[in-house]
Amino acid sequence: MSWLHETSAEILGRIEEAKEAKAWPFFRPQENVGARVKVGTGSYVNFTSNDYLGLSRDPRVMKAGMKGILDYGTGLGSARPQATSVRHEELERRLAAWLGYEACMTFTTGYQSLVGTLSAFLDDDVTLILDRLCHASIIEGMFLARGEHPDMEVRFFKHNRMKLLEKCLRTSEYDKKMVVAEGYYSVDGDMGPIDEMADLCRKYDAVLIVDDAHGLGALGPTGRGVGEIFGVQADILIGTFSKAFGGIGGFVCGDRDLIDYLMLTARAFMFSATLPVSQVEAAITALDIIETEPQHLRRLHANGDYFRAGLEDLGYDLGDSQGHITPIYLRDEMLTMKFGAYLFHGGDIMMMPFISPGVPPGTERLRCNITASHTRSEMSYALEALAKIGPMLDVLPEGAATRANDLQRFAWLAQHKIRGVQNAGVPYLVHEVTEGAKKAVDYTRRMFNGARED
Ligand SMILES: Cc1ncc(COP(=O)(O)O)c(C=O)c1O
Repeated sequence: MSWLHETSAEILGRIEEAKEAKAWPFFRPQENVGARVKVGTGSYVNFTSNDYLGLSRDPRVMKAGMKGILDYGTGLGSARPQATSVRHEELERRLAAWLGYEACMTFTTGYQSLVGTLSAFLDDDVTLILDRLCHASIIEGMFLARGEHPDMEVRFFKHNRMKLLEKCLRTSEYDKKMVVAEGYYSVDGDMGPIDEMADLCRKYDAVLIVDDAHGLGALGPTGRGVGEIFGVQADILIGTFSKAFGGIGGFVCGDRDLIDYLMLTARAFMFSATLPVSQVEAAITALDIIETEPQHLRRLHANGDYFRAGLEDLGYDLGDSQGHITPIYLRDEMLTMKFGAYLFHGGDIMMMPFISPGVPPGTERLRCNITASHTRSEMSYALEALAKIGPMLDVLPEGAATRANDLQRFAWLAQHKIRGVQNAGVPYLVHEVTEGAKKAVDYTRRMFNGARED
């Protein structure tokens, strides 16, 4: 036994209880992806995916990925300086044109895009100013830079509080200032006020970097993200293919000189293997679809509106969220884990519990991600399940109900099944389906068998 084992044992001991109560929600091995996923013997309505437009399963995107493999194999065998394909350059040209920038470069992940970009520009004479809730990859970029440049200054401002951002800018140690924020916050579902940020950056001569991982492809009238909504062009815009594009990989857009500099200095780009061409081809086709088929975006927005209105009717606390990321704030760690377990075991629904340190203590929540792939019936069913479980866990008052009529409610519960589960002594969901209803469940399941009603 080394100290490595002692370190591991301490952490593992803490999660043992949750595992025993079957409330441990992570690393559940899925057999497929999408709005309905198979885990073990169960089929679950899935609200944990960032595949917002459902493009990961689009036959054209999949076929493009396969073509990439046929043309270039499964990998390019090296990092970009030695392994750039004509298709990488094509994708980068397309993305720059789509977002209105001079140039773009791709990274192997979105995470590396942030780490690589920040660490390449930060220096001992720079003040870095961050929204307190910004993503781990931004924080990691800061840590990496600080290791090499201990004299750089780092300031945080409370989430989206522009007065405090201004204070940071006004009182910064150095003249060179960099502000980094997310466009659409991944677990809060609210947007950074990047119009005000851009104004403040102009006023104090700072550069603005926006990470719009969850907004690009998914927000704005044509999917160009928060920049499109606010009419703002950040100095550098960072995105990922792992959300609305349905794949994996990251990208950075900016002026030609900035991108040329990053291609020679971002170590996460220089010293990590090239994004495979299969993913490049998939991203090009995903971009074709995003640019030419607005119906997917419209559907995402309509689904987001529908689900959000249902949650608001029920009286759930959704914080300041808007759009397709709908956090249900429960503000208690055990309650959040328990709620997730009730949904999973009793309702066949996957919603991700977020607890500290993933989110600040007191803001624990379930994150429900809506996608264009969800049917009305799946979302309505989830709302019914949330209407049942809320009062059980004293989150909603007794008798909380959706606006659905009895017939609709019955159809949704029957179609997707709510089953009662007694597990490890924990009473999960007490289901109300009578013997008669059970027959209807079987009948409805046969009828609907895999069919999507909208
Ligand atoms: C806001 C934000 N930025 C960056 C990333 C990293 O992107 P990727 O998962 O594509 O590496 C994520 C991933 O969840 C994210 O939510």
